[in-house]
Amino acid sequence: MNSSLLAPAVAEALTRSSWIRKMFEAGAALKAQYGADQVYDFSLGNPDLPPPPGMADALREIAATLDRPMALGYMPNAGYPHVREALAALATAEQGVACTAGDLVVTCGAAGAINSFFRAVLEPGDRVLALAPYFVEYGAYTANHGGVLDTVACKETDFSLDLEAIEAALARGETRALILNSPNNPTGQVYTAEEIQALGELLRAASARQRRPVFLLCDEPYRFLTYDGLAVPSVLPYYEHAVVATSFSKNLSLAGERVGYLLVNPAMAGKQGLLDGVILANRILGYVNAPAIGQLLAARCLPALRESQQVPIYQRRRDCMADVLRQAGVEFFLPKGAFYFFPKAPGGDDLAYVAKLQAQRILAVPGRGFGMPGFVRLAYCVDEAVIEGARSGFLQVSKEG
Ligand SMILES: Cc1ncc(COP(=O)(O)O)c(C=O)c1O
Repeated sequence: MNSSLLAPAVAEALTRSSWIRKMFEAGAALKAQYGADQVYDFSLGNPDLPPPPGMADALREIAATLDRPMALGYMPNAGYPHVREALAALATAEQGVACTAGDLVVTCGAAGAINSFFRAVLEPGDRVLALAPYFVEYGAYTANHGGVLDTVACKETDFSLDLEAIEAALARGETRALILNSPNNPTGQVYTAEEIQALGELLRAASARQRRPVFLLCDEPYRFLTYDGLAVPSVLPYYEHAVVATSFSKNLSLAGERVGYLLVNPAMAGKQGLLDGVILANRILGYVNAPAIGQLLAARCLPALRESQQVPIYQRRRDCMADVLRQAGVEFFLPKGAFYFFPKAPGGDDLAYVAKLQAQRILAVPGRGFGMPGFVRLAYCVDEAVIEGARSGFLQVSKEG
């Protein structure tokens, strides 16, 4: 590689290609060799369920409105006003707190929401705290804006918050934002209202010590997906300086269309300044605005979310995977939400276990890719037949020890 063409940080990042990417490439090679139906691919969090049935009609209706000037032209950087209104009604219902269109910015997915937020609040050298194991892109999103990612491990027994460890990290006095992802990728944990309340108290104390707010960034693209009727508590009533990043990538299977939003706590003092900063960041990062068709589609499909049949499908898959792992004698935390298992690697070495599974044409991602070695991630946004098909391979690996 001609290194003079690239910024050193990007050249370095390229050499550390992510574990998910590595498994994706290994999977492609296995599929070419054995055929796609002979490979049990649990490496990617790309929802396999089609968008809701009404989406094709919604797209036709949108197409019928395109014969006017600028139908798909530039729009306000914060998104179409009527889409923001519709999203505010959704946010009000989900968060149990009255939200208005002015409290949110439509973004290019949750990823765009996080990047626009960080662009608006981070100064070079500011620290962002992630709770391990964590969605690996947080490191890049922080570094994109001159920040530095610090990590604190969750409890290894059930991946609940280790509040003492978080308090110790905050005591260093350098944190600008803490990221909370619930339901969690990769653990499937959903944090309780008690944990969130205690976290809010720690952050409030840290903000007072530092004489500037420590933001709580709640990354919630899996809010819709919990099992056994569990509700995801809203953080907004517990902490004034909270913001929510979310998207329609998972619940409407709209990941390629890049639509989400950043919601600022309606109760945050001086919130308009922050919102203006996020809207500006959305523009100057080059997103300009979230995609027009995606916004129109998402807004028209919001009612479909209420009738969604996705949760029972994922619940059956979760229970099927739990049964496979149990039979194979693998220790795991039963996910309360999202579509990932994060079981312990038998023997303790995640790389060795992933390699053994791969020999059975089963693709998993080593936990070290999420900042927690000794575990593996299995994404079960795949057909139940794939999970069943992998059963004998899991049993074989356990038998070989
Ligand atoms: C925890 C988490 N946050 C954010 C994202 C980004 O999602 P998107 O930008 O497609 O909304 C993902 C995608 O997998 C994720 O798992």
